[in-house]
Amino acid sequence: MRRDANAPLGVFDSGLGGLTVVRALRAALPHEDIVYLGDTARVPYGTKGPGTVTRYALGCASHLVARGVKAIVVACNTVSAVAPERLRVELDLPVLGVIEPGARAAAEATRVFKVGVLATAGTIASGAYPRAVAACSTRVETIGQAAPLLVPLAEEGWTDGDVPRLAARRYLEPLARAGVDVIVLGCTHYPLLYAVLEREAKDLVGPHVTIIDSARAVAREVASFLADRSLLRSADSPGTIRLLVTDLPNAFDRTASRFLGSEVDGAEQIDL
Ligand code: DGL
Repeated sequence: MRRDANAPLGVFDSGLGGLTVVRALRAALPHEDIVYLGDTARVPYGTKGPGTVTRYALGCASHLVARGVKAIVVACNTVSAVAPERLRVELDLPVLGVIEPGARAAAEATRVFKVGVLATAGTIASGAYPRAVAACSTRVETIGQAAPLLVPLAEEGWTDGDVPRLAARRYLEPLARAGVDVIVLGCTHYPLLYAVLEREAKDLVGPHVTIIDSARAVAREVASFLADRSLLRSADSPGTIRLLVTDLPNAFDRTASRFLGSEVDGAEQIDL
């Protein structure tokens, strides 16, 4: 099917986390219109089973398709880990995930051939990161650590102080003991806690530790994907960002405007 290059890009996540990807897309593709859907009524996804996550993801993606998007960026590691093939088959539309770009960046960055991944329980259980890293280099070992409490902390905006610091240390300790030199933030919510995670990782692993927030790598891949298929928007006016949520639009607005800047209109509440 011929796609309209001037149609918006669809992006979704369970809640706020995918805004970290929207921010990077905005920087890499300033002329693209973006429709972002945060499934705030059903967050978190990371503690749920693959069947449930796939069902929720199909609901979000179908809604974006009905709004005429030209491609979908799954700004959620948990969905990218368990559902991308199903989405591609059911939607007949380009679907880009967030796992491979982060895995590639990690495999390139490690000097000791050991990469740590902090992610949701669902992403860790899926084995998607070890597979994606092994596809880049069979010499690199991947050590996964589920860090479920970081998602509600990010959603609450509780990003500094003793509680996030102690949670971050608890999750980083096993990775430090395993001797990794690279840590992938394998959940799009975690970059909201970047400062505390970086500080504690430097303390536990050492100042040489590399933290990978895959948002920029994802945005680069989306940009070259659209360019290769002549799908870049032709207008050179700045693109718009439209926010949709399934619950609590006002709470979402506060973080979204802090995160994306004031040019963003308020979120619209939708039902899936
Ligand atoms: N931000 C999502 C991810 O990257 C999901 C977090 C959650 O809902 O548990 O995995």
